[in-house]
Amino acid sequence: MLFDSTSLQGLTLDNRVGLAPMTRVSATADGCATDEMAQYYAKFADGGFAFLVTEGVYTDSAYSKGYLNQPGLVTDDQVDAWEQVVDAVHDAGSPIFAQLMHCGAQNQGMPPSEPQETIAPSPVQPEAEKSEAYGGSGSYPVPEQATHDDLETAREGFVSAATNAAEAGFDGVEIHGANGYFLNEFLSSTMNQRDDEYGGDPEARVRYPAEVVSAIAEAVPEDFVVGIRVSQTMVTDTDHQWDEGEDAAAVFFEELSAAGAEFIHTTEPDATVASFGEDGLTLAKAAVEYVTDDTVVIANGGLGTPAAARSALEDGADLLTLATGALANPDWPQRVADGDELTEFDYREFLRPEATISEHELTLED
Ligand SMILES: Cc1cc2nc3c(=O)[nH]c(=O)nc-3n(C[C@H](O)[C@H](O)[C@H](O)COP(=O)(O)O)c2cc1C
Repeated sequence: MLFDSTSLQGLTLDNRVGLAPMTRVSATADGCATDEMAQYYAKFADGGFAFLVTEGVYTDSAYSKGYLNQPGLVTDDQVDAWEQVVDAVHDAGSPIFAQLMHCGAQNQGMPPSEPQETIAPSPVQPEAEKSEAYGGSGSYPVPEQATHDDLETAREGFVSAATNAAEAGFDGVEIHGANGYFLNEFLSSTMNQRDDEYGGDPEARVRYPAEVVSAIAEAVPEDFVVGIRVSQTMVTDTDHQWDEGEDAAAVFFEELSAAGAEFIHTTEPDATVASFGEDGLTLAKAAVEYVTDDTVVIANGGLGTPAAARSALEDGADLLTLATGALANPDWPQRVADGDELTEFDYREFLRPEATISEHELTLED
């Protein structure tokens, strides 16, 4: 099953295994992708990953940027700089999607000395400390509640970043609606306490993310893929669950898919474990159950062994992605197809003390 070729909205994929998005804060200070990043991404395509999703890329110059040295898709220079990455990955034979990210209240990496204004659906402070591996320290600031003008600016940012991604040659975009960042916060009744049309029941909470999906879908070329990533859990609240459980999932997946999401990429810490009650559905299975039309479902989280990866497909997901398993095994698909042993992931080797790309990650070992 893992190695059946398949298609994703017109793109032919050699197998079912993709690279999950991973922020590596290795761009230039003004948000341009580098030659090193081109080598880093191409290596996963060389190693057999059938599609790649980039790290979270910021979308506007107002409040979207969440880390120092995060790449953007805002300026002409940033668009030009991505071309070297896209070309290298295409030359190695895989499609690549840009993950479009607005950090919301989780402005992760900025040290306390940086200006710390953030916006979110509501002025709710994320409970956790910022990540030192991403250059941050201390607590997150209390965000300002996003005004309707802020929402318009953010939506326009997402749309222009998507059309910029098409211009840079990307095959599509993944909108970041997971892990506690801006769009994900709308889905949560803890982080979203709005009393306007964007807060309240699940139908209202998914309205703004769905508007972003449909605005992008209308703006990009016909054959450009548009998907969204969704999770219950957040970087700053790793046990977070939607109050309405599966009922919320039903509304979210149906609305996002109807708005034009051609894939939904679910992520949970362990995608093989039920997300809604002990015997309930996994998040990916809930997506399979509730999407409309032919929206493709991608599962992620804890799928780094061949057995776990297979079980996600048996559970109904069309595709799966690996993050940490891919760092440790940039040729995971080839190794598994050849029956070779996999390397265990070790944080210290890749992401400590900082999450930047290391020299040893740039070439595949023979
Ligand atoms: C270094 C690192 C950076 C990450 N950055 C992002 C990101 O930019 N966007 C995102 O949606 N998820 C991000 N994630 C989460 C991963 O995509 C993935 O969901 C998580 O690691 C679980 O998958 P795994 O068990 O295969 O590692 C990151 C994870 C790691 C380890």
